[in-house]
Order: sequence, then C-alpha cells, then structure tokens
Amino acid sequence: MGTHKSRKDQHIDICLTENIDYSKTCHCEGNPFDQWHLDHDALPELNLENLQTKCIFLDIQLSAPLLIGSMTGGTVRAAEINHRLFEAAASCQIGVSLGSQRSLAEGTSCMSDFIPKALSKRPPLVFSNLGAVQLNYGVTLKHIQRIIELTQCDAFIFHLNPLQEAIQPEGNTDFSGLAQKLENIIPQVPVPVFIKEVGAGFSLATLKKLESLSLAGIEIAGQGGTSWARIEGLRSKKGCNRKLGELFASWGQPTIESLIACRKLFPQKLIIASGGIRNGIDIAKSIVLGADMAALALPFLQAASESTEAVIQLIEQLKQELRVAMFVTGAQDILDLKKKKISCHREER
Ligand SMILES: Cc1cc2nc3c(=O)[nH]c(=O)nc-3n(C[C@H](O)[C@H](O)[C@H](O)COP(=O)(O)O)c2cc1C
Repeated sequence: MGTHKSRKDQHIDICLTENIDYSKTCHCEGNPFDQWHLDHDALPELNLENLQTKCIFLDIQLSAPLLIGSMTGGTVRAAEINHRLFEAAASCQIGVSLGSQRSLAEGTSCMSDFIPKALSKRPPLVFSNLGAVQLNYGVTLKHIQRIIELTQCDAFIFHLNPLQEAIQPEGNTDFSGLAQKLENIIPQVPVPVFIKEVGAGFSLATLKKLESLSLAGIEIAGQGGTSWARIEGLRSKKGCNRKLGELFASWGQPTIESLIACRKLFPQKLIIASGGIRNGIDIAKSIVLGADMAALALPFLQAASESTEAVIQLIEQLKQELRVAMFVTGAQDILDLKKKKISCHREER
C-alpha cells in the first residue's frame, strides 16, 4: 500500500478532498464546544486594545497560546506545506509541530523534506514528532537523538495512534510493552517530552497509565475533529478496511472530556487541547477548561495548501476571535482567562 513517504502524500490528498472532519459530518450534533458557555461580562472594565494574548510555554514567549498541530513532512510536497506553516508561525510568533519523523529515523527522507533550509526566521517553538509504536519496530534512543539534533526542536512529541494503525492497511499494530519502553526512554530524551493522541483522545484509565512517565505535558487530540479511522479507511482499496474506517469514524474520547480528565489528574503538567478546535472561542474555552495552549491541524493544512499568507490570515483571525472572547469574559490576559467561569447545560463547574 506504499511507503511512509507516499502515505504522507495520500493523507494530504484525502484531508484536502474528503469529508474527514467529524465536526462537519451529519453524525455530529454541532461543535461540542458550543455546549459549553463562558460567562458573559457586560461590564468588562477593560480596553480591548490593551488585551494581551501572549503567553509563556516551556519558558518561550508566544504571541498567543496557539500551536500548528503535527501534520506532515518527508516528501517534497510536505516540505512545501511545512515551509508555509513555518514561515507563518515565525511571522506570527506561535508554535509549530512537525509531522512524524519516522522516515527520517528510517533514513528514507532527509531534513530538507521536513523543513526547507531557506527560512529567514525560525518559529519560536518547534516540536518534533514520532509514533511511539515505532519503539517496537526498531527505533531507538539514537534515532530520537538524531531527529532532535537535525530539527533543533524545542520539545519532542510521541504520538499514540492504535486506532489509526489498526485500520491502516500496512499498520504497525504491536503496541505490547510500550508503556515500559516509554518509561525507560523518556528520561534520556534531551528535550521536554509530550505524548499525544491523533484524534481519539485519552480516557482516565489511559491517562493513569501515563502517570509514571516523566512527561513535560500531554496533547489531547481528542475525538471531535479529524478522524483518522475515516482517513485510513478511505486510503484503503479493500472493502473491509473501508467498512472498518466508517464504523470507527467517530470512535474515541471527546476532546473536552479528555481535557477535563487530564487537568484533574495532572494539575501541574502542560496541556495542549486539540481535536476539533476550530475558532478562537474554542481556544478560550479550552484555556478555561485547563489547557495551556490549543492546537489546530486540519484548518492549517487547508490554509497552507493555498499560501503562507492564508496561514498568517488564519492565525490572525484566531487571535482576534480569542481577544474578543477574552474581552467579553473580562479577561485582560491569558492568566486572567484561566480563572473565568464556564458551564455546561447550566451545570456550574
Ligand atoms: C494531514 C494530517 C497529518 C497528520 N499527521 C500527524 C503526525 O504525523 N503525527 C501526529 O502526532 N499527528 C498527526 N496528525 C494529527 C493532528 O496533529 C491532530 O492531532 C488531529 O488532526 C486533530 O486535530 P484537528 O481536528 O485540528 O485536525 C495529522 C493530521 C493531519 C490533518
């Protein structure tokens, strides 16, 4: 069914042409964030012009708690997309994550397939990314150190994607003994380490399995946005995989549920909310629900398929939406926003 490289290009094609965003399917009863309400402040006693969206994440200053989620790399086309994402992230001073660097570890791609060299300015925060399951398929600490050296990343993400691998025709489905491997390897990784899902989120039971790991943080990537079951189903030529993809298209722990559970269990860790976040109000709600930052993937892919300017425009739009949400909740900065009230179906938090 193709190499890692051709698979990454197929993912881009499917994401840009098919309906793989759960929040936009007919099965979804609207954006789950819409069921949550921030208290409106009719007398904010703030000047909108003076509101600050900037934040500190891993001791790095960003213009907003916003990350371009892990997506791609490893092919000429992917490098062009990353070039636009990196240019925009640098220009707007937000974070960006590379897609899986499995092909770099395997030696089937080179750095120029991930980040083009001709960048005049580097984004302030860069994450590298690799599937944790690759630790069961020959990837060692040496590979990870090499990836970190080549990308000069500020932090490293291991992604967990059992559902995607199960539906992917050539998936790597041996997840046995992975928790122990992660526990052994993470303390030796020379930059802060995060764990993320890819769109199916974390249950409380899974989060408890992460308690013994020396993680700097967790990215939720919950159910509610991009559906990897559906993407892999659509990629497959086999009818049975297509059926599997459709059956599991909405599988997983919803983003908000995962986020609340994660913040309860890990009061001190950094948390990135993701999975179906589509506007600045969703970002504001994520922050109030306990996130330190929010990440979007698919909307940035769509923008990057147009131009760097389209990505910049999307970032500025999201920041402006966040600023207005902060204004009408009476929050002058992100720390202040964290203290605001949110409720669901009239149930107070
Ligand atoms: C084209 C594409 C490629 C992706 N590749 C990766 C990847 O290599 N590693 C990873 O951890 N997540 C990957 N993801 C998952 C995203 O980082 C994100 O967790 C998920 O799409 C949910 O966010 P969204 O609903 O905003 O798209 C990818 C997403 C897209 C759209």
